[in-house]
Amino acid sequence: MRSVVSSGESMAKHAEEVDRTVALARTIALVNDKGGVGKTTLAVNLAGQLAGAGFACLLVDLNRQANVARDLGYRDTASDDHGRNLFDAITGRGQLEPVPGVRPGLDVAPGGIELDDLVSHMVGRMSREGLDANLALGNALSPLAPNYDFVVIDSPPEATFLVDLCLYAARWILIPTRSDGAGLDGMANVAKRFAVAKQYNPGLSLLGAVLFGTGVRSTSIHDEVRDEIAQAFGGQSPLFSAFIRFSEKTAQDGRRMGRLAHELEEDLAAQPAWWKALREGKRQGPRISATAASVAGDYRDLALEVLSVLREAEEHQSASLEGAQQ
Ligand SMILES: Nc1ncnc2c1ncn2[C@@H]1O[C@H](COP(=O)(O)OP(=O)(O)O)[C@@H](O)[C@H]1O
Ligand SMILES: [Mg+2]
Repeated sequence: MRSVVSSGESMAKHAEEVDRTVALARTIALVNDKGGVGKTTLAVNLAGQLAGAGFACLLVDLNRQANVARDLGYRDTASDDHGRNLFDAITGRGQLEPVPGVRPGLDVAPGGIELDDLVSHMVGRMSREGLDANLALGNALSPLAPNYDFVVIDSPPEATFLVDLCLYAARWILIPTRSDGAGLDGMANVAKRFAVAKQYNPGLSLLGAVLFGTGVRSTSIHDEVRDEIAQAFGGQSPLFSAFIRFSEKTAQDGRRMGRLAHELEEDLAAQPAWWKALREGKRQGPRISATAASVAGDYRDLALEVLSVLREAEEHQSASLEGAQQ
């Protein structure tokens, strides 16, 4: 009798897993144990580019620092609940209700200080449920995910429990790194956790690694990083050809003004020439760096490469499914 119950239970569990996997098929988590490697900046700009291209996107901010709110300019506005709803959805107290239309086509589940108790909640839950507890974020997202073409998750640094929540929810992992050793160490740690998460979230795959904040002409450094990444992932290097160039000024402009790189590019085009404003005696606000246009181009190249890698992977997957059915 017991075996019948448990096989029924395991079938239900399998069905739940299939539902979750299908719903979250285009969920991309930005992950690296290290802070300051570009997770947040990439998450907002990638989601922003995809939304701008007409894809419906949900951006989930799993950070207590809530830099997503700063980058998108909604910090401390009426729609900023500092992570309360996300906390409630992950801990099973309510449904996830993202803030709609932070940009056309872009909804956001805000993070913030309300996520402070999430780690202790997860510790308690793991002691009762084991590693299954890590499926909590995926379970919170899966009812909503079918409304979106993409779900992008920005993960926190050095918060093992919360990074695991991302690894158990996402279908794809995108790993940003700087060209120094620190970012690469963080990447190797993710590679290890990835293997465990895959047992619970079998669809989990590596989308690729992205070089963030690097020199445009540093091609020999890019080659070195490519080799190191290949070693960390046991062979093939998943490094994207697209990279995000170093530009402190554009980073500063973006965070100060709550504007994404492609929005700064538009603002830049509308910005009057400095001498014209001076001649007309107009007060000059802070000027947007001309590099914004190149940085926006980098994010565009990255978004296009992400789309083509995803399409290729999905075509490969459906071809192998068809092959298996014949
Ligand atoms: N293109 C860029 N070049 C150099 N620094 C950048 C660039 N874009 C953003 N930054 C800066 O890099 C730092 C880390 O970025 P962030 O996305 O917050 O990393 P993480 O989320 O991994 O901690 C921030 O101070 C940000 O302003
Ligand atoms: Mg961050």
